[in-house]
Amino acid sequence: MSRAWPKKKTLQEGRDERSCSYIWLIQRDTHPAPIINCRMINSAGKHIRDASPAPDHRSEARLRIDPKVLVFVETTYSGLGRDIAELLVYNRIKYKIEVAGKSLPVLTNLDKGRYGVIVFENLDKYLNMDKWNRELLDKYCREYSVGIVGFVSPSEETLVGAQLRDFPLFVHTNLRLRDASLNPASSVLRLTRAGETAWGALPGDDWAVFQHNHSTYEPVEWAQRNTQEYPADSVGQVQLPLTTVLQDRGQLDGIQRVLFGSSLRFWLHRLVFLDALSYLSHGQLSLSLERMILVDIDDIFVGEKSTRLRPDDVRALIATQKIIAGMVPGFRFNLGFSGKYYHHGTREENLGDDFLLQNVQEFNWFSHMWKHQQPHLYDNLTLLMAEMQLNYAFAKEHNIPTNSGYSISPHHSGVYPAHELLYLAWKQVWNVKVTSTEEYPHLRPARLRRGFIHRNIMVLPRQTCGLFTHTMYIDRYPGGRDKLDESIQGGELFQTIVYNPINIFMTHMSNYGSDRLALYTFQSVIKFLQCWTNLKLASAPPIQLAEMYFRLHPEEVDPVWGNPCDDARHKKIWSKTKNCDSLPKFLVIGPQKTGTTALYTFLSMHGSVASNIPSPDTFEEVQFFNGNNYYRGLDWYMDFFPSETLPNTSSPMPTTLGTPRYMFEKSATYFDGEAVPKRAHALLPHAKIVTILISPAKRAYSWYQHQRAHGDVIANNYSFYQVITASDSAPRALKDLRNRCLNPGKYAQHLEHWLAYYPAQQVHIIDGEQLRLNPIDVMNELQRFLKIQPLLDYSNHLRYDVKKGFYCQAVSEKRNKCLGKSKGRQYPQMDERSAKLLQRYYLNHNTALEKLLKKLGSRPIPQWLKDDLSTGT
Ligand code: A3P
Repeated sequence: MSRAWPKKKTLQEGRDERSCSYIWLIQRDTHPAPIINCRMINSAGKHIRDASPAPDHRSEARLRIDPKVLVFVETTYSGLGRDIAELLVYNRIKYKIEVAGKSLPVLTNLDKGRYGVIVFENLDKYLNMDKWNRELLDKYCREYSVGIVGFVSPSEETLVGAQLRDFPLFVHTNLRLRDASLNPASSVLRLTRAGETAWGALPGDDWAVFQHNHSTYEPVEWAQRNTQEYPADSVGQVQLPLTTVLQDRGQLDGIQRVLFGSSLRFWLHRLVFLDALSYLSHGQLSLSLERMILVDIDDIFVGEKSTRLRPDDVRALIATQKIIAGMVPGFRFNLGFSGKYYHHGTREENLGDDFLLQNVQEFNWFSHMWKHQQPHLYDNLTLLMAEMQLNYAFAKEHNIPTNSGYSISPHHSGVYPAHELLYLAWKQVWNVKVTSTEEYPHLRPARLRRGFIHRNIMVLPRQTCGLFTHTMYIDRYPGGRDKLDESIQGGELFQTIVYNPINIFMTHMSNYGSDRLALYTFQSVIKFLQCWTNLKLASAPPIQLAEMYFRLHPEEVDPVWGNPCDDARHKKIWSKTKNCDSLPKFLVIGPQKTGTTALYTFLSMHGSVASNIPSPDTFEEVQFFNGNNYYRGLDWYMDFFPSETLPNTSSPMPTTLGTPRYMFEKSATYFDGEAVPKRAHALLPHAKIVTILISPAKRAYSWYQHQRAHGDVIANNYSFYQVITASDSAPRALKDLRNRCLNPGKYAQHLEHWLAYYPAQQVHIIDGEQLRLNPIDVMNELQRFLKIQPLLDYSNHLRYDVKKGFYCQAVSEKRNKCLGKSKGRQYPQMDERSAKLLQRYYLNHNTALEKLLKKLGSRPIPQWLKDDLSTGT
């Protein structure tokens, strides 16, 4: 076994070098100086020793595993389990959580392993698994070359040299430790760079260390006993490093493992854990080592007197940029200006403004708003553009480049929730192609921030670095200097860069004046990254970063519009003219040809119920959540629901203006739209969902007749039987028609999809035959479900019309108002052959529907379903 013990420091050396933690790594001045004292790099941030390149964990062998992690947790709420899951989410590593102690989940899929690594939050749960399951799991690991990560879980009982069941391995627990370092010879380390020591006390008093005496074991991390707290222990004793993370190379039983003597609370363990996943999955779960960093300086020229940049600050900015560019190729600060406040400082600060402009070519530039206004406050495109043009003119006058294609909105206003006027104005005045925000989908948790593209503008997620407009002095940093240093040295800021391949940080001009905390912060964190990781840092202009981002994450191109009223921060940057009350309270989702127009018409008779205003293209249907309308944005959708809808005078119970309305929208294609449930739920999580079901065979036939009546060439050239039996080798248009005809009728499948987003209590299923034959009861029940007040007694307003053969609105004693010719059409009965075929075709789907309806338990099984099932068997 190769051992490269870290050099032991004397107690006195340790005392001299450190304060109370490893934060001593930064030398302290009155002005914070970003000097990371790291053995691996020189003061310019270059590596002194040519560190060996990060090992590639990829294996030559043909692996049969999915890049997914199986995590056994103690309970669904356990702390370390949650930390593991969050870390995996941050790094977009797929995983499945299982509670340990229950039966094993299915591990294989045909001849493929479902998981590349197995993680035990509590190693004991693995060691003490029942024999049968343990054998099964170990067999899986051997057969598919899958490794195991285990954490020794703290317990009240202190173990001293206790043997781990079935392994020549011993643990001591409940220790306090200090000074962690990594084994440079460990083949597990890839992203993490060995060579440094994290001096000082390690977090927690419940560390376990491993004692081993077999060549299968190789330490990954060592630490020292915290002798400062046990001075008696140290007198005259030479302390050997204690193994805190251990690799088992699998020599004993053919299974590779990495065991941790403590949780992920210690920052370094998060990196080593990611490396363990990479190593044990043979590179299947390796993260890229490339990291892009862009630092925006917003609010250039904005700021009170004495918070702004002086010429010296600008010099420091240029000097530091040069140093950072030495470590991060391509690095340039990205300056966002609001020209209106140019020369609004003290005399010296005004010289600072001038000096900045004299050095315009040193930096990248982008436009902020002219007066730093929030665009969502503008409801007039011309005015908004006029303001932007002022900043544009300012840029031209001062030779500031105007072609970056990037812009940032003050306070993230208008970017998300999207204010369409901002997108339009940006395009027209600045030809903006990229922006960034911290707000999509929400500020927190940061690990879930994402990007999207709207109106051809690429919106990138922005990272937070912990500096804000008011953080100008190190001594007044919230939580004190240690807090900032902690974030830099392995904490939040450091980890943000480790986990995000593309980082855009937001800082403000004030962070570069006074104590110049931003210079300190970025130079320090970059050095710290050089010390502890093998990451390759680089920078590029925003457009390049955006293109990279969406190449990496093509699934994020489409936005998902959330409800601005569900996030207080979003509400603050949403126009006062917009109002969540004007969003629909319920959706009638179809499917087509089940009686949706009848339901829509009956609902609209109610004075307290209002639907959207008609769409010029699709009449009563907005069809927002499916298809291309969704890309028009939320503003477009909300325009269909003006908050002051006129009273419905044609209603038998007209209401006056101002009475609360139950807004709804009916689009019959929502039912089977792939993306619809997710999108609808993101915007309207509390909405009720109303669907109507009739026999799927009957629905398919009615739909076919509808297509014929609308002049569909294919429907008119092929018989119904030909359409439903079209094979996969048939002409494309015929295949498409077949699919559109048959797919919506797979009711159970579509309903399950909706129920994955909406709880069953929010979903109401109407039997379409009942709607046709007995609409009065159906409407009464629906009103109760929707909690509509006052109840409209439909028995006074609906009447069976013999001529039409359907229920119609009774407008006077003698006169009925029925639906148009296209509803309740006359057409020949479905031919016997098609009917039989469809009964067979839908049999499985109908069986699944019956099962689902029984599970939901709320309503009787429709007669048509019973009939379809009985004839089909
Ligand atoms: P058919 O025209 O094939 O008979 P949709 O509005 O979803 O397109 O559904 C149209 C179907 O609604 C019609 O199909 C018809 O059978 C049914 N329907 C139910 N109640 C109705 C009513 N009161 N008036 C007209 N059609 C009704």
